[in-house]
Amino acid sequence: MTPRDRSAPSGRGPSRRGFLLGGAVAGAGAVAAVGIDAAVSARATDAGASTPLNGDAIVPFYGEHQAGIDTDAQAHVSLVALDLRADTDREGLRRLMRTLTDDAARLTRGQGALADTEPELATAPARLTVTFGFGPGFVARAEAPAPAWLRPLPAFTIDRLRPEFGDGDLLLQIAADDPVTVAHATRMLLKDARAFASPRWVQQGFRRAHGTVRPGTTMRNLFGQVDGTANPVPGTTGFDEVVWAREGWLAGGTGMVVRRIAMDLDKWDRLDRPGRDQSVGRRHTTGAPLTGTDEFDEPDFEAKDAIGFPVIPEFSHVRRSRPDDPAQRIFRRGYNYDDAPPAGTVSDAGLLFVSFQADIDRQFVPIQRRLDELDLLNEWTTPIGSAVFALPPGCAEGGFIGEGILS
Ligand code: HEM
Repeated sequence: MTPRDRSAPSGRGPSRRGFLLGGAVAGAGAVAAVGIDAAVSARATDAGASTPLNGDAIVPFYGEHQAGIDTDAQAHVSLVALDLRADTDREGLRRLMRTLTDDAARLTRGQGALADTEPELATAPARLTVTFGFGPGFVARAEAPAPAWLRPLPAFTIDRLRPEFGDGDLLLQIAADDPVTVAHATRMLLKDARAFASPRWVQQGFRRAHGTVRPGTTMRNLFGQVDGTANPVPGTTGFDEVVWAREGWLAGGTGMVVRRIAMDLDKWDRLDRPGRDQSVGRRHTTGAPLTGTDEFDEPDFEAKDAIGFPVIPEFSHVRRSRPDDPAQRIFRRGYNYDDAPPAGTVSDAGLLFVSFQADIDRQFVPIQRRLDELDLLNEWTTPIGSAVFALPPGCAEGGFIGEGILS
């Protein structure tokens, strides 16, 4: 497994997709792909602009790949799965995707949707991205060949799946650094889709608010763990190999796994610090492997303690999830969720586990199988939702997402 690549051009900063600022900078014609910090300070020094606003930051919609995959994760996400109406045919899908694409492009640059009833809510894009994924039903309706892995995941013994969090024909991943922006974009896009599809499930997630921690800080999940350390880094060839599909209509797109994983925080409370560290194989405090001191130190799986036991236990999550075969790597881009606790409990929390990989059967499934066989974290975690989508490549201005199978 490759350690996090610090020599990558993008390092731990913003993704190579870059950001554009709306407002003053764009208006002055000074539009350029720039790092967000540079862009925000550029705006601050712009005549008349005194306060840099995170809300002005724009992630370009058009491009070779859809935005929202290699984009530095925003603070808020809504994952919305839709079911196609029985009478939506291939021509209907084409109209649907053209409308959704046009409005997603407008909203991500801070403009109201075409028939926006509250365009004032669209003026702060806050790095809004809208990413579309096709479920098996969508691809069948489009009469297109489906990748072999585009089907529900195999059943795992740890699964306790609930239908209200599973599957779907069309996925919208709507993410931004502001929850009002996410809510507005979601409503506009669902209105566009209403004649063709109806919502099946919505799952909302969050990370730290933008600006709360230094850019590039790895997220923490609600167990308190540093989560996302050993991830391919956007902008590197390693990332490209893991994520982007190379064949057929999916070339430049990817496969997406969504797993809603409940985390039993009450049970976790009863585990002491050493137990927590052992369950993952990393330190809670820094995220460093038990054999190292820095978050990005390479774990030493051969190291033994004084009495000959592995320092990183065999049952630990990092030991079990780390692929022996580099072809099995995945890119994780999950979010926390925290819903109203059911009566008699104090939490309903967990992880909206999201991973992107070119081939779900080859990359994701072997990892999940190993974790199903043995992973101490299974004591506190339960998958309760599961869905798989094919994310087509991006499109150029004038085109639309899915044109590869719908034009
Ligand atoms: C609620 C459930 C889960 C929690 C709390 C969790 C937490 C963590 C933590 C704390 C790490 C170590 C830091 C890091 O590298 O990110 C990690 C690593 C990892 N996890 Fe999970 N994880 C969960 C579910 C999953 C699932 C379902 C998969 C895939 C099937 C997975 C795959 C991985 C991989 C591939 C790594 C990196 C291993 C390495 O190469 O070092 N995790 N996870």
